[in-house]
Amino acid sequence: MKLSVVILAAGRGKRMKSGIPKILHEALGRPMIQYVIDAVHTLNPAKTIVVIGNGADEVKGAIHDGHLTFVLQKELLGTGDALAIAKKELLKGTVLVLNGDCPLITAGTLRSLLAKHKRSKNVLSFLSFIDESMSGYGRIIRDGSGNVTGIVEDKHASSIEKKMFNELNGGVYVMESETLGSLGKINRNSSSGEYYLTDIIGIVYKAGKRLDAYQCPSEEIRGVNSREELYEISAILKRRVISGWMQKGVTFIDPETTHVHVSATIGRDTVIYPNTYIEGRTSIGQNCIIYPGSRICDSVLGKRVVIKDNTLIEKSRVRDGASIGPCAHLRPDSVIGRNAKIGNFVEVKKSNIGAGTKAGHLTYLGDAEIGPGVNIGAGTITCNYDGKNKHKTFIKSGVFIGSDSQLVAPVTIDKDAYVAAGSTITMDVPSGALAISRGSQKNLEGWTKRREGVKSKESRVRSHKKKS
Ligand code: UD1
Ligand code: MG
Repeated sequence: MKLSVVILAAGRGKRMKSGIPKILHEALGRPMIQYVIDAVHTLNPAKTIVVIGNGADEVKGAIHDGHLTFVLQKELLGTGDALAIAKKELLKGTVLVLNGDCPLITAGTLRSLLAKHKRSKNVLSFLSFIDESMSGYGRIIRDGSGNVTGIVEDKHASSIEKKMFNELNGGVYVMESETLGSLGKINRNSSSGEYYLTDIIGIVYKAGKRLDAYQCPSEEIRGVNSREELYEISAILKRRVISGWMQKGVTFIDPETTHVHVSATIGRDTVIYPNTYIEGRTSIGQNCIIYPGSRICDSVLGKRVVIKDNTLIEKSRVRDGASIGPCAHLRPDSVIGRNAKIGNFVEVKKSNIGAGTKAGHLTYLGDAEIGPGVNIGAGTITCNYDGKNKHKTFIKSGVFIGSDSQLVAPVTIDKDAYVAAGSTITMDVPSGALAISRGSQKNLEGWTKRREGVKSKESRVRSHKKKS
């Protein structure tokens, strides 16, 4: 029998108080619905349908991946209406329906629900949980013999129902495609004006068909309806990701204050200090040290790389043994060669830095091609922008750039050349030459004493004027 999946994702997410569709709010660097999509993809469904509505184009743009079929719920009339709209796209067979706002669901739990559904020959099965700390979920009503007879939404439940029924609805359902016929029997709720998918439970029960709820850990079906809940599920995801890396041999000094996105990878024996953010498709090699306060996004670090305190690395590559920071900034498209050193307050943009090259202090290297074994003195600036266009600076191997130099691009400093400190270089420097471009020094002998003399004469004149 074919499996179709429906992810309900059209809702407004009113309780988020946001201009962004709820299911696009990010948990650990990814839209929350992406976790749900990934979990269902591992089940190899014949079709995955996403019901979109609020911010439809935005949602489509963010998650479109070729495996998904989108259907539009023009008017947000509730979860029952959302599934009814998806019906036309469904294949004959088994249908898994889940909310797009439950990113902690695992493929294992979905598989086990499908297996129990099949084994019990149910027409409808769904996940439930018990957790006194969670509120706002539908309450599952069971009769004296323990049979599920319906669901009452928390906001419509009487105080007696709230007292009697503490088993909650996880919003994950498996049903046979014939069961979808019951959707037409759902009435519009008189107070909210919505068609509740949860009403299908009572309808199927009354029709005398087989149905049941299966408990799973509450953590997995935590829905996200508010910013607090987004924070809570992000914290759980973070813990899952970090303990996964710990099990693979990564040391975290303080996991509570460390953020590692699901898409990042970290090598063995790497040590991560507190307040660090490892984001996007970052890959960190073995035996690296990431000191506190650093953020590394979509970048590749080799082995034995050291990132010193408060450094930002974006879309760049750092080769084995290199050291970056403290307080350095690698902007996109920078490549730092083996054992190179980018030090205090250095900014690198769209540049290649050769192996073993050093830029230790207060420097800007933009649009530069720098060879191996180069020494860039403190305060060096590649002047890459003429107000209209960007130009390149080429610094060949073995070059020495003295401190406080400006290299006005386009310009080439050839192999083993020297640039004297304080120079403004506007012409190419040939290999092995010394380029010096600064005012020559003049020493005025005895100047300090002469100045003292002038000062004391001036003060004598002033005090004489006051007296007279
Ligand atoms: C829903 C269930 C509740 C369950 C909880 C689990 C209903 C009526 N209630 O409540 O029993 O305990 O999930 O998390 O189903 N959506 C649409 N179209 C709509 C309305 C909602 O696609 O017109 C989507 C939303 O985008 C969301 C999902 O359906 O992804 C659930 O909607 P939400 O408003 O979050 O329902 P809950 O109040 O959480
Ligand atoms: Mg919800």
